[in-house]
Amino acid sequence: VTASPLRARAVPAGVPSGRAPVLTLDQFLRVSDWVYRRTGIRFGSNKRYFVDKRILACAREHEGGFESWFRAVQNGSESPEAQQLINVLTVNETYFLREDYQFSILVNGVLPKVLEAGRSRGDPDHVRILSLPCSTGEEPYSIALHLIQSWPDLARVDVEIVAADINTEVLERARNGTYGSRSLQRVPAVTRRLWFDRVDGEHYQVKAEIRDVIQFTVANLSDIVTMRALRDFDVVFCRNLLIYFDELSIRRAAEALLGTLREGGYLFLGHSESMNRIAPIFQPVRFPEGIVYQRPVPGAAS
Ligand SMILES: C[S@@+](CC[C@H](N)C(=O)[O-])C[C@H]1O[C@@H](n2cnc3c(N)ncnc32)[C@H](O)[C@@H]1O
Repeated sequence: VTASPLRARAVPAGVPSGRAPVLTLDQFLRVSDWVYRRTGIRFGSNKRYFVDKRILACAREHEGGFESWFRAVQNGSESPEAQQLINVLTVNETYFLREDYQFSILVNGVLPKVLEAGRSRGDPDHVRILSLPCSTGEEPYSIALHLIQSWPDLARVDVEIVAADINTEVLERARNGTYGSRSLQRVPAVTRRLWFDRVDGEHYQVKAEIRDVIQFTVANLSDIVTMRALRDFDVVFCRNLLIYFDELSIRRAAEALLGTLREGGYLFLGHSESMNRIAPIFQPVRFPEGIVYQRPVPGAAS
């Protein structure tokens, strides 16, 4: 069926026909510009349907309509309306053991080098790992489970895992650590039996002894001021966030990520993400299973 020219004009690009959004272009542009400046995420007009639906749901909850709601969003960085908007617009897709070859690189390639660097610094038994963004927690828990199951040095090394995200709702779910079958698909049955408690037919909760060792906190990778609290990490996982950023946001994020790492520390990105072209401030390090990025050590030969 061919859409009539009238309909084609009325429905913006990215919106399935027959389900028109109610935001005007001006409203969409003002909100998406605010979201971009705040989070680094750029929503193009091909995302109109996704964005409009969520913005309208937030604005409807607010007495006084769109303009009054948007004033509240802009009213200081801690406004509940601003946080709610961020919560509904961020994409939180994740699952246990995602891109698990990187956990092997961590244990077999990166951690031995981290321990060696620690020894020369006089701090041989301490490793700090950051998972940012952690979404609902599957990534930091996967790191913890992988270390428990595959890293013999864990018996003598004190490992700190910090997990952070901009979305406060996913952080709550991460702290609770209860997951359904979709999230747990790749977790071997033996791991599930050992490290999860069954909640009901389909849901399992990560055992308290693992939940308790991970510190969950709010952080915005696009906010240099709050990122200053996250520093001196040996390893940072920042996977599947930069795909939502444009080149400028990636360059800024690269600076912030550099600041989270010790000199010589390692950064893992998602498999479709790369720093090479956009922000060559990291040194790519090649392992048999893939590439990791290193914060350069001043004066060291590359
Ligand atoms: C697709 S998930 C990736 C989760 C996990 N790292 C993985 O690879 O499975 C992306 C996460 O980035 C978070 N996020 C979006 N913008 C952010 C920002 N500026 N700072 C920190 N987290 C952000 C979202 O809330 C979401 O939970």
